[in-house]
Amino acid sequence: MQDTFTPTLDSWPSWPVIARPVLLLTLLVLPGATWLAALGNPVTYFRFDLPPGQTAYILVKLAGLYLFVLLWLQVMFALLKGDPRARNLLPDWTVRKHRLLGIATLLVAWAHFLLFFTAVSLRKDAIGYDLLLPQFSNGIYFVAVSLGWFALAGLNVVALTGLLRMRTGGIWSLAHRLSLGVFCVGLVHAQMIGSEAKTTLWFALQLGLAAAVLVALFRRLSR
Ligand code: HEM
Repeated sequence: MQDTFTPTLDSWPSWPVIARPVLLLTLLVLPGATWLAALGNPVTYFRFDLPPGQTAYILVKLAGLYLFVLLWLQVMFALLKGDPRARNLLPDWTVRKHRLLGIATLLVAWAHFLLFFTAVSLRKDAIGYDLLLPQFSNGIYFVAVSLGWFALAGLNVVALTGLLRMRTGGIWSLAHRLSLGVFCVGLVHAQMIGSEAKTTLWFALQLGLAAAVLVALFRRLSR
């Protein structure tokens, strides 16, 4: 009698079936793991007296790292839509997944901004009005923050054009492509201002993810 539990060569999953969830899981675990490694014991931040705004500030970093990964996934899903090779890299793309990921990205982006706003307001013991508009004349730190501000404003436009194109299509579809610009500005912002983003691991990761976006863009344009 044939042993039905012995795997044959045909019954092994193909490599994309393993690679896809591994890539996705790595991307989703890495921001949290990086953040925890940099933080030490996070409980300390909630149990002991810390400078005002410190807890909100460390959460800014976590949200920033996740935001970058979510933005990359969203851009890649969109660029590789309908590309047969994409099946080797990412799970199947559906409009529903695109919308859910878009909403998650927007919420994390707002959390990143609002946590920073809260941290600064608590630290200064005054509402941080100066963060509500971009500013380019107060040194490199504020230039980096302002780039984040532009990326967030761009992300809101992208979300809005996503809604509008569902109804009317056309020009809004074109404007929705601003997401690529948002990704680029977000990348520069992260490298200018992020502490974890500047580590060798994250620098290499962000470079690799940016290169993947470029390849996906070329494939899209040549289809
Ligand atoms: C789409 C928009 C944005 C993206 C993709 C983004 C992404 C990131 C990333 C990846 C980091 C690095 C985190 C780290 O290494 O610790 C970061 C840090 C930071 N972001 Fe953003 N960001 C965006 C918008 C904003 C906005 C609107 C603000 C505030 C106005 C902001 C303020 C900051 C600050 C202050 C840090 C530094 C945290 C640290 O000291 O490490 N970001 N951001």
